[in-house]
Amino acid sequence: MLNRRQILQLAATLPLLGTGTASATGPAGNTGPTVNTRPIPSSGELLPVIGMGTSQTFDEPASPETLQQLGAVLQAFFAAGGTVIDSSPMYGEAESRVGDILRTLSPRPPVFAATKVWTTGREEGIAQMQTSAERMAVERFDLIAIHNLQDWRTHLATLKQWKEEGKVRYIGITTSHGRNHEELLQIMRTEPLDFVQFSYNMEDRTAEQALLPLAQERDIATMINRPYQRGSLFAKTRDQELPAVAAELGCSSWGQFFLKWILGHPAVTNLIPATSKVHHMQDNMQANFGPLPDRNQRAEMMRVFSAL
Ligand SMILES: NC(=O)c1ccc[n+]([C@@H]2O[C@H](COP(=O)([O-])OP(=O)(O)OC[C@H]3O[C@@H](n4cnc5c(N)ncnc54)[C@H](OP(=O)(O)O)[C@@H]3O)[C@@H](O)[C@H]2O)c1
Repeated sequence: MLNRRQILQLAATLPLLGTGTASATGPAGNTGPTVNTRPIPSSGELLPVIGMGTSQTFDEPASPETLQQLGAVLQAFFAAGGTVIDSSPMYGEAESRVGDILRTLSPRPPVFAATKVWTTGREEGIAQMQTSAERMAVERFDLIAIHNLQDWRTHLATLKQWKEEGKVRYIGITTSHGRNHEELLQIMRTEPLDFVQFSYNMEDRTAEQALLPLAQERDIATMINRPYQRGSLFAKTRDQELPAVAAELGCSSWGQFFLKWILGHPAVTNLIPATSKVHHMQDNMQANFGPLPDRNQRAEMMRVFSAL
């Protein structure tokens, strides 16, 4: 965590936000295009469709250079109407770096702060969630999810109680790859979850079989991790021209193409691509705007991708 002197130094180096708030009307400020949003089924609250992850990308030491770089990445996110930030105590120093930067922003833009609990034992879980709130500089989290189902019965009991007491707004559970899908499905069928987080992208479509349909049936919001399959999707599209369907959807990059394909699934609420680069953040946030693919366009996108 930064000391007061370091916070003031960092604040002096960050570009100021145009209005101090993340505009709901787009990157250009109040007159830009409207941000695409989807409702959280359990409450109806609208979320911008593009959020951000922090695994690896924000796990950096608190040097002035790093903070300036990551601060600029966050500014690009807020400037394009982003609010949902996903982190975890599993991601090393990522929660702390997000918190360091949020502390410097005045007024603070709207943030939907999400972290995870990733330990074993009731007391350990509570202590970890309290530490995460200090690190990420939030009074209370909007969402806390159980990371990779670890000791989920214990933490779910705590989270249900916290939600009742108003200490957290939404609760959920996460996984990635094809790990623990059967157990996750069972939890989704029986427990009152607001959110479920798992991987889904043009190369890994396992979630279409059961996770996405069940989330839709049970009114559980979905937060999609690894939308770029950790970046490996780009290996296929290097030096490839974008197809005509990309222009129909306002996609000027393969990144936007990959994100919009995911958003074309009706059970998807929000995606959390991760980046440490300002120009990649600006690229990703373009998928927060403009048309989303219908069934035919999605099929065409997959046809093009499969032929690469
Ligand atoms: N079980 C879980 O709960 C779980 C598991 C996995 C992930 N997650 C969450 O989901 C988030 C996203 O997943 P992920 O980080 O594994 O993978 P990802 O978002 O699919 O891919 C991240 C990679 O894509 C690159 N990238 C990002 N934007 C790009 C762009 N516009 N053009 C080209 N390259 C781009 C990044 O590199 P640069 O830095 O160079 O841009 C980075 O290497 C994580 O950060 C984490 O918050 C949760």
